[in-house]
Amino acid sequence: MLQAPESRAPGYRDWATHLPVMRPTLSELQETREFWNASPCGRQGTLEERKVQRYRMEPWLPDKIREIATANANVVELGCGQGTDAMVLCSWLPSGGSYLGIDHSDASVEIARDTAMAEQSRLRVAPTFQVGDAGAIDLENDSVDCIYSMGVLHHMEDERRAFREIHRVLKPGGSAYLWLYRSWTPKVAVAKALRRVQEGVDRIFGSDRAFYKMLYGRHMEGSLGTMVLECFGVPHLKSYTRSEVLRLTSDLEVTRLAPVGYSFPWLHRRNDGQGFLGYFWDIELRKAWRQPPSAP
Ligand SMILES: C[S@@+](CC[C@H](N)C(=O)[O-])C[C@H]1O[C@@H](n2cnc3c(N)ncnc32)[C@H](O)[C@@H]1O
Repeated sequence: MLQAPESRAPGYRDWATHLPVMRPTLSELQETREFWNASPCGRQGTLEERKVQRYRMEPWLPDKIREIATANANVVELGCGQGTDAMVLCSWLPSGGSYLGIDHSDASVEIARDTAMAEQSRLRVAPTFQVGDAGAIDLENDSVDCIYSMGVLHHMEDERRAFREIHRVLKPGGSAYLWLYRSWTPKVAVAKALRRVQEGVDRIFGSDRAFYKMLYGRHMEGSLGTMVLECFGVPHLKSYTRSEVLRLTSDLEVTRLAPVGYSFPWLHRRNDGQGFLGYFWDIELRKAWRQPPSAP
């Protein structure tokens, strides 16, 4: 079970809001790991099957990944899941570049590593994967050119830990490409409403995630990935308004902040994912260059 916030060990103060940032308890991270180990993100199947499902849902994403890989030689992905985007990134990164995928789910990292072995002849860059926490990245300060993180940080109990780490590890001038759920969009609103219904049912019957347990193992992932399981089972599912994103990212320069993604794929004619119903924030950030030291 998650511990009540007041029982958590105090951590440090957030640089933007000056609110205390709590260190996660072991059980919070364990619960996250257990969920994603039981349901690695996306369709369960071969890389080809995963790609078909993923890029049918997000047809704009492969072009975006290609753009990122051609603009940045060294990429660190936070929450790489089964490594589906990693394979696309590594097929576009310039040879001599590098890719590190970090995920808190060891089962997902194992699948990503197996996929990379099977794909190695098709990749320009050999990816490496690490089990780790986006809120405590095991890398030096100012060491990373580019951070990529798709649909991950909104599942953290305290996502400010990750933003603090992104700022710490990025090189001055480095970029981060992030996607976070956007508040008040149909898909996110439905997911949140369904979670509320489940919470009500749990309260009445004393159950623990009753719908999740009913649905688990039913193989609905073909059309929706792990979206339905995620909606009922994941420990944290958050979404953000524009001003909340700006507050979270206040230590970095925001170079792009726009809606993207198809709440209802059949309604959209455009293939670039743009539109006011977009259920993700498409966020690009840059870490400022250091000011030259002033003359004595
Ligand atoms: C919705 S999936 C997204 C996976 C991948 N980015 C994709 O789009 O297919 C979320 C992933 O984030 C990982 N995750 C959640 N919290 C994490 C954390 N604190 N640190 C690292 N990974 C985390 C989960 O294990 C899971 O694989």
